[in-house]
Amino acid sequence: MAEQGVDPRRRRVLTTAVSVVGAAGAVAAVWPFLASMRPSVRAQAAGAPVEVDLEPIEPGQLVRVKWRGKPVWIVYRTEEMLKNLEKLDDKLRDPDSEVVSQTPPFARNRWRSIKPEYLVLIGICTHLGCSPTYRPEVAPEDLGPDWLGGFFCPCHGSRFDLAGRVYKGVPAPTNLEVPPYRYVSDKRILVGEAPEGAA
Ligand code: FES
Repeated sequence: MAEQGVDPRRRRVLTTAVSVVGAAGAVAAVWPFLASMRPSVRAQAAGAPVEVDLEPIEPGQLVRVKWRGKPVWIVYRTEEMLKNLEKLDDKLRDPDSEVVSQTPPFARNRWRSIKPEYLVLIGICTHLGCSPTYRPEVAPEDLGPDWLGGFFCPCHGSRFDLAGRVYKGVPAPTNLEVPPYRYVSDKRILVGEAPEGAA
């Protein structure tokens, strides 16, 4: 009797609506549980520091981690790479890292890092945000005989040396950014926290 006068199409719509509400309720009930199981993911998205073990990085190698959703590069620079940094000053726009937004005080030195051998950078081009490529080789054919290793942005051709310092005459206006980081032991760093007293 209750069926009388009910348009079958309307009944189908009502049934579908009830199912959708039921599914949404189930998701809502499950979500807090999933969320509570993944605190580290949530914490990282919110900007929690990321600890990185430097031990496995080979000389000359670049490794990538993510911090606050941004790519962070860590490069283990060799003696030769560090020596080459000394030859470039006249080709660079800001060799002494005077643009303070790009270099925290603890990294305002020739290497732009706490320990010379380990470079830590945000891997985002300061022109329009592309991701530069790591080109550590000296004088490769496509980059020319003056190239002493660095980062090349394929989007509009910006060039940076192996300290992330920008060359003159390219579209990128500033050096690549050094994020806050500190050493928690000889071979471990925490990306996202500056050394004490050097924030
Ligand atoms: S985004 Fe890198 S050169 Fe334009």
